Amino acid sequence: MLINGKRVILRAIELSDSELLREMVNSASLEQYENGFSFPVSVNAQDKWMKEHLSGDTESRLIIELDGDPVGYMSIVNVDWKNKSCHTGIKLFSEKNMGQGIGTDSVMAVMRFCFEQMHMNRIESCFLDFNTRSRALFVEKCRWAIEGQKRQAVFKNGQYHDLVLIGILREEYDDLICERDYWKE
Ligand SMILES: CC(C)(COP(=O)(O)OP(=O)(O)OC[C@H]1O[C@@H](n2cnc3c(N)ncnc32)[C@H](O)[C@@H]1OP(=O)(O)O)[C@@H](O)C(=O)NCCC(=O)NCCS
Repeated sequence: MLINGKRVILRAIELSDSELLREMVNSASLEQYENGFSFPVSVNAQDKWMKEHLSGDTESRLIIELDGDPVGYMSIVNVDWKNKSCHTGIKLFSEKNMGQGIGTDSVMAVMRFCFEQMHMNRIESCFLDFNTRSRALFVEKCRWAIEGQKRQAVFKNGQYHDLVLIGILREEYDDLICERDYWKE
């Protein structure tokens, strides 16, 4: 099944998305927000990654579509079916699509899917300390809690940055929907 937001649709990645995702991974402007690190990614390396990550019981890699166009990438990974938790990440491909509510709609859609379909109890994520957009999206708009801070965890652009650890529980998502029903607004 597809994951529907109010405006976006999240669908599984396809082999044909390989070049789009390679451009995203190699993008200097997006790399600054990336928690991990990779050497420049070749066509072959990307194709290999695609085949390994197309499907699995503990991960789902998704393309965010707006009006039929791919505008971003989102993941649901580290699915722990026993403890009912998973990790998510999000990246929009282009600066021109940022700040228009696409991130909020995508995170809301993934929360609804994880809690109401996958029966998760907890979703977690993280962002670099200077990432004000991620902080606004997760903490201010979607009410995720800051659960900790890994000090000097990521070396980027010549200096160490703290990694902010965030999470939301099923009961907190239910409270959010009770207070302000995003889906009916
Ligand atoms: C982080 C990201 C996913 C957010 O998605 P988005 O679509 O830009 O976010 P939204 O438009 O839903 O905005 C959410 C909130 O962020 C805040 N925001 C928007 N633009 C902002 C900006 N330029 N600076 C600071 N905060 C901003 C606003 O408070 C906004 O709430 P509002 O709509 O009530 O004003 C997206 O900007 C992105 O892909 N950034 C680059 C990659 C990245 O940082 N990924 C996350 C790594 S953890």
